[in-house]
Amino acid sequence: MANVDFSNRDSFGSKFGVIAAAAGSAVGLGNIWRFPYVAGESGGGAFVLIYLAFIFIIGVPVMLSEFVIGRKAQRNTFGAFKILAPGKPWFIIGIMGLVAAFFILAFYSTIAGWTLEYIVKAVSNGFKGQDTTIIFESFKTSTFKPLMWQFIFMFLTGWIVFSGVKNGIEKYTKVLMPLLFFLILLMCIRSLTLDGAAKGLEFLFKPDFSKITWGVVLEALGQAAFSLSIGMGALITYGSYIQKDNNLSKTALQVSLADTLIALLAGVMIFPAVFALGMDPQAGPGLVFQVLPELFMKMPAGYIFSIIFFILLAVAALTSTVSLLEVVVAFASEELKISRNKATIIGAIAIWLVGVIATLSFSDLSHVKLFDLTIFDILDYVSANILLPVGAMAIVIFLGWFFGKKLIFDELSNEGTLKMKFFGLFIFIIKFIAPIAILLVFLNSIGIIKF
Ligand code: PHE
Repeated sequence: MANVDFSNRDSFGSKFGVIAAAAGSAVGLGNIWRFPYVAGESGGGAFVLIYLAFIFIIGVPVMLSEFVIGRKAQRNTFGAFKILAPGKPWFIIGIMGLVAAFFILAFYSTIAGWTLEYIVKAVSNGFKGQDTTIIFESFKTSTFKPLMWQFIFMFLTGWIVFSGVKNGIEKYTKVLMPLLFFLILLMCIRSLTLDGAAKGLEFLFKPDFSKITWGVVLEALGQAAFSLSIGMGALITYGSYIQKDNNLSKTALQVSLADTLIALLAGVMIFPAVFALGMDPQAGPGLVFQVLPELFMKMPAGYIFSIIFFILLAVAALTSTVSLLEVVVAFASEELKISRNKATIIGAIAIWLVGVIATLSFSDLSHVKLFDLTIFDILDYVSANILLPVGAMAIVIFLGWFFGKKLIFDELSNEGTLKMKFFGLFIFIIKFIAPIAILLVFLNSIGIIKF
């Protein structure tokens, strides 16, 4: 292995900082916007059950694998594979990861921009006495405002990445994530105490397996990967900033549990309200933006809560977009040898340009469709349901079959200083269970095999 110069790389300052940053990447619009909307479209309970199974048999092991690769290599996603497997084509995983970062950030920044508009709407009391669906539709289909917010959001993302890993990413996440958690809890209580809330809980937690198709199973896999930020190297990049004495297994488990808990709570916040207020669980990407304002109007001090909530949602999105941009910036600065600052500016502008098309696909470009999907839908579908699962599969195959068990053991146990109770299980999962499960879901949903 080439000699790595650790001296000039930034790293996370504390154990809690690591968890906060990784959880900051994981927890975001994926939990609060995407999980409810995809669960709603996919029929609820049975989808949720399959999603949970994927989190634990695929998600946690893949996250841990990414940490191992990143911390061992001390490099960006692309460079990590170049260093760990010189002369072999595994760096293709890194290239796929870069493409995924581009795609995801492009459409993610559209929705992140929506959260900014909703902060302003909340402050100006813009929901009061209005039909929230009409408000949402008229904003979404306008041209200028969504583009402006997306630009501002990309600017904020670039600005934080600009300030570097420790001062930028770590500082903000540490405080704001726990706050978001408590606010969601409060809103769950309000949602659950609405008349007719029980139906929503039933929808979310009572599995109806007649709703399950292989397409739905693939959605669940994609959502699990998307929500945990796995399969494209964001966590390889972050893993490279984790200090050598960190217990990686514990970190992966804690981050995954926190992420899953927040997604489920978001479901409990949304669906009882959806049913109680007679809204449509299949409303698609606009679901939470239509439901939440209604919920706030029914809450004591809803005005204040709505402002705080949309600010925190924007921050949660920001800590995720930062991790996406960081993938590109770490790559460009370490591999292409341009300065971090230049890499940030160029990367952010390039992604923003693709993002403009994603945003316009709700308005001026809404008629541009392929397989009945808009450009936004395509970016979302291809990254979550194809690039991330394929990336996740390649990552566990690389680690399980080509990396060497001894090296994995050393990295996971911090050179033998930690007790490793589940090492055998972990190896078994990354060698067999996770790759086979992902492959089966793919082959079935494409229709190559039929179970
Ligand atoms: N996990 C993030 C979310 O749930 C999105 C994300 C995906 C971030 C992939 C980084 C990489 O919002």
